[in-house]
Amino acid sequence: MESVDKLREELLAAVEAAADLDALEQVRVAALGKKGRITDQMKGLGGLDPDRRREAGQALNALKDAVAEALDARKAAMEGAALDARLAEERIDVTLPARPEETGRIHPISQVIDEIVAVLGDMGFAIAEGPDVEDDWHNFTALNIPPDHPARQEHDTFYLPSADENDGEQGRMVLRTHTSPVQIRTMQAGPPPYRVIVPGRTYRCDYDATHSPMFHQVEGLLVDEKTHMGHLKGCLIDFCRAFFGMDDLPVRFRPSYFPFTEPSAEVDIGCTRAGGELKIGGGDWLEVLGAGMVNPNVLRNCGVDPDKYQGFAFGMGVERMAMLKYGVPDLRTFYESDLRWLRHYGFAALDVPTLTGGLNR
Ligand code: DAH
Repeated sequence: MESVDKLREELLAAVEAAADLDALEQVRVAALGKKGRITDQMKGLGGLDPDRRREAGQALNALKDAVAEALDARKAAMEGAALDARLAEERIDVTLPARPEETGRIHPISQVIDEIVAVLGDMGFAIAEGPDVEDDWHNFTALNIPPDHPARQEHDTFYLPSADENDGEQGRMVLRTHTSPVQIRTMQAGPPPYRVIVPGRTYRCDYDATHSPMFHQVEGLLVDEKTHMGHLKGCLIDFCRAFFGMDDLPVRFRPSYFPFTEPSAEVDIGCTRAGGELKIGGGDWLEVLGAGMVNPNVLRNCGVDPDKYQGFAFGMGVERMAMLKYGVPDLRTFYESDLRWLRHYGFAALDVPTLTGGLNR
């Protein structure tokens, strides 16, 4: 048998010399593992006579305890040192101001919808919603667009496949071509007065620098007993000035035609497109919305008495508003999902538009 004292000296020295936790574990296995040196010695006890065995057994047990204790102490010291090192290295100076973390951007279309809703919400309009997949009656017929009306072609409608071949156009569902069907749904849902806006997606088979097959509109409907054309003009001019943040915004009303309004108008904003840029002011005009006094036929289709109630409606193109306000010359870039573009044109996630806080940055 090895001398217990010599073994103790050697093992305790090895514990001290271990440079890291891995090395320390190796020392533990070499001493106390199944084939470790202390374990070996223990196995040798069987061959000794009883007196020797008791004596040597006690000495080996004491050695085992001493080595185990030394291993624990060294391990605790190493772990403490590692923690101290981490604490020193990862120290956080809580007195520094927070560095804003850019985890994402708000898409300009979402931002502009929020801005439009902030202005019109402040004027007292509530939000109404309707389905993207609409039936022919709500999308066309109820809005005074009968089956053979030429306005149906203008809309370049996406018709959905019909379950029944004999349905014909009128029995088929469509991707709504405008948010106007929500006027109908709002009026069917309860009695006047109505004062709603409808932000939402709309679809037409169109694609160029100012049209995309999916786009966004915000519809408006205000019906009461005495609402007149003056209210329509005042409301829309105030809205445009507030939205663009310009009291001297170039804005004009142009007579137009929509089956669901009479009289009808379109609103244009003065702009320039010089040098591939789009800017407010200048000789050109960009149409941003259609509007008019709700056609009595539409009121009648919804069970509202046109001799008692009247009002106005409007539908604006969100992309057009966004292009003008933020100088985006080509509408198609909104939907290309180019991150560099979004970093340039996008908005900070916590910058929620309000009238009091300012609509934008
Ligand atoms: N729905 C029309 C379109 O998409 C826009 C519009 C025009 C809506 C006049 C209205 C309105 O509510 O009164 O072209």
